[in-house]
Amino acid sequence: MTGITQTLKQEFSEIAAFRKLFGAAPEVAVRSPARVNIIGEHTDYNDGFVFPAAINRSIRMVARPDGSQRVEVYSANFREKVEFGLDDLRRTRHWSDYVKGTVKELIDRDYPVKGFKALIGGDLPIASGLSSSASLEMAVSETCALLFGFEIEPWEQIKLCRRAENHFVGVNCGIMDQFSIRMGLKGHGLFLDCRSLEYEAVPIPVDELVFIIADSQVERGLAATEYHARQKQCERGRHYFSSINKNLRSLRDVGEDLLIVNRENLDPVIWRRCRHVITENRRVQRAVEALKKPDMALFGELMNTSHESCKVDYEVSCHELDLLVDMARKVPGVLGARMTGAGFGGCTINLVARNRIEEFQQKVGSLYRSTTGLTPKFIITEPEDGVRSWKL
Ligand code: GLA
Repeated sequence: MTGITQTLKQEFSEIAAFRKLFGAAPEVAVRSPARVNIIGEHTDYNDGFVFPAAINRSIRMVARPDGSQRVEVYSANFREKVEFGLDDLRRTRHWSDYVKGTVKELIDRDYPVKGFKALIGGDLPIASGLSSSASLEMAVSETCALLFGFEIEPWEQIKLCRRAENHFVGVNCGIMDQFSIRMGLKGHGLFLDCRSLEYEAVPIPVDELVFIIADSQVERGLAATEYHARQKQCERGRHYFSSINKNLRSLRDVGEDLLIVNRENLDPVIWRRCRHVITENRRVQRAVEALKKPDMALFGELMNTSHESCKVDYEVSCHELDLLVDMARKVPGVLGARMTGAGFGGCTINLVARNRIEEFQQKVGSLYRSTTGLTPKFIITEPEDGVRSWKL
């Protein structure tokens, strides 16, 4: 939280926009990144393992206190200003719910939040599976901490933002998104054990490789409903395994052998959901081992198998994501390709040799366009740092 540099000031076009809109200078600036999940999908709410990273797309938020009990917040993306009282924090199924929900969680925990004015901008695509929601929650909590001079311990902040999403917004997400946005570390993937919350930052060989995120431009329409349906199915699987052995507290504790011998005892759909979670946890562990060697070919293979498992066993992919993945794998220099995030649209993540970036975009771009009529958007990224804030 040191002073903002000249370069950063230039990046923050929101500072000038704030001044223009509110007629006064903002006092704090926050940059809150997006996240991409490299491997470990739908494992976080099963006490499992994930391996995400923060990326080079962010929400930028600038703000100043105004001595009132009201919040005025303008979104440059939606070109819309919302105003609400601190004593009137109700869900309206609107983008501002992420702001209200986070403010409410802070107030409920007795953090001294007062009225403020804020402007939200940045270059993070919304609703494309890169966790703009968690990024906004993190931006709001960070902004309030700096504006009103309180400290919030990282894990407390992560959990608080998750609660805003679970309780206020009403999406029962796991901990991965808020965690990666808070803890992101440049050049590293974050290997998190979602049960113990222990994590390790593992270097990614960014000299030779990059991640290319391909946005399918398919909106994640069914995401929340299907997400909750998957959670219920996992719960049924967990319940069965706990009933045969009470030490099996979550799917994370079930081995592949036990899964196989119980094939006939579970509904086939539930069994496949369990197989995804159980094998995906193992893939994350193997991927981290591969990275440490480093054996990037194996790492890429594991990304590929993860996609197949998401598609066949967990059924959270969609036609366009499968197309993008298949097209990517045909480009030389692509080590692995998979859907990323909750699924049903959104993005794929591709591990690509640096000298193939152009070729990748050209080939996948034109083939996807001619097949679907949609123009995919690409983000070339390395793992980046998590949320950062400055007093202006
Ligand atoms: C969403 C949720 C995460 C996680 C992923 C799937 O991004 O917010 O907690 O469950 O889906 O891996």
